Amino acid sequence: GVTATAVGGAGLLWGSSVRTPPGPRFAEPTELASKAGRLRVRLTAAGGRVRLGDRDASALTFNGGIPGPTLRLKAGDRLSVRLRNELQDPTNLHVHGLHVSPEGSGDNPFVMVEPGDAFDYEYELPADHPPGVYWYHPHHHGTVADQVAGGLFGAIIVEDPEPIEAARERLLLISDVSLDGSGQIADVSPMARMLGREGDLVLVNGRLTPRLAARPGERERWRVVNACVSRYLRLRLDGARLQLIGIDSGRFSSPRDVDEVLLAPGNRADLLVTTTAGTASLRAAPYDRGDAGGMMGGGSPGTLSGAVLLATLAVEGEAVPALPEVSAQPAPRDLRSAPVTARRELTFAMGMGAGMGGGMMSFTINGREFDAGRVDTTAAEGSVEEWTLVNDSPMDHPVHLHVWPMQLIEVNGREVEAVPRQDVVNVPARSRVRVRIAFDRFTGRSVYHCHILDHEDNGMMGVIEVR
Ligand code: C2O
Ligand code: CU
Repeated sequence: GVTATAVGGAGLLWGSSVRTPPGPRFAEPTELASKAGRLRVRLTAAGGRVRLGDRDASALTFNGGIPGPTLRLKAGDRLSVRLRNELQDPTNLHVHGLHVSPEGSGDNPFVMVEPGDAFDYEYELPADHPPGVYWYHPHHHGTVADQVAGGLFGAIIVEDPEPIEAARERLLLISDVSLDGSGQIADVSPMARMLGREGDLVLVNGRLTPRLAARPGERERWRVVNACVSRYLRLRLDGARLQLIGIDSGRFSSPRDVDEVLLAPGNRADLLVTTTAGTASLRAAPYDRGDAGGMMGGGSPGTLSGAVLLATLAVEGEAVPALPEVSAQPAPRDLRSAPVTARRELTFAMGMGAGMGGGMMSFTINGREFDAGRVDTTAAEGSVEEWTLVNDSPMDHPVHLHVWPMQLIEVNGREVEAVPRQDVVNVPARSRVRVRIAFDRFTGRSVYHCHILDHEDNGMMGVIEVR
């Protein structure tokens, strides 16, 4: 059979000779959908026994499962979540990418829910909230990477106002984890906590290399979430047509044919897959996300997100007639022509820190580690700002801003044909990336940070206040 594990540079064989592995059937998490503009859910974070890939594991779950339930919403809906903490550590909830208020019981990253306690979140989606796939995960600084790697994540779907025609829609939540011999989440070395851990089981909806089935000529809608703590997913689909509708909450004006899609940790892809006969394979090609640049003494361990076979798609049976091409999608305001009221530079750096008895790397933005009590940046409500994200380090950092999405403008001085909005923008090692942000609709305090969650837990996060 074919194994789907690959760690670092170890790699694995994949390619033209891959035969359909006898993988488990593809399955999606439970879905909870809003009715009449309202969705009320209870999410309980707790330890539990689950099946992860082909192993019995002790992990962290929302409502007993990995992933947690999918929350299906429409623009204008109100979502109420009672989060109950049955973990050993504090936790909280972030609705990643949703354009909702960061204040009070909204998408407030400063809330702390102690073990045994509960918290009631209330999110109100604006009537023009962009459709797309979003996700939720804990955000208590210092425990985020452990809790997400442990299994605490789930998807949020905001439906299209005008549905896109497809034979079916699928959600693929991709995560990675390492288990020890007894099925516990494996210990993470201090080095992996600095460079960003990658698990050696790479799972789709908690399953190892699931098998999907379709008929020839069918068009499917795939929503893919990179819920890995640090692993980049350079997605490729061999044996089928792949079209990209958009990344995060942003959409191209019409779907474009692509050979591959790079998803940094936290990114989502909205895809169309059109089958031909035979077996297609969804895999991640290797992606080199940099190294420690010799900071750790003699050695300079690299961080390669290795090759992985993620899923297979068996295409059998009678062909179906082709659907018409998808027409143009409504795009949000293009910020390239917007007047900019402020320009800022944010420098992401790694250095040698003095913390924890020395020998630890420091992870900073503009020279400072995260401090929840300090405001690092302010912006005026309604303004458009241009941020230059400078990566002064030998590793990539995927930069995430809560609440207000970013429009990618330029990478290393080269203008990009931008997806209108994304909430995680990868800033490659030793690079400069320009983005524009419309600070519309909401005021309050929130955060921006590296979405390699180990880097965030190590301090690579800042506080923004919109007034
Ligand atoms: Cu998905 Cu602030 O995180
Ligand atoms: Cu980082």
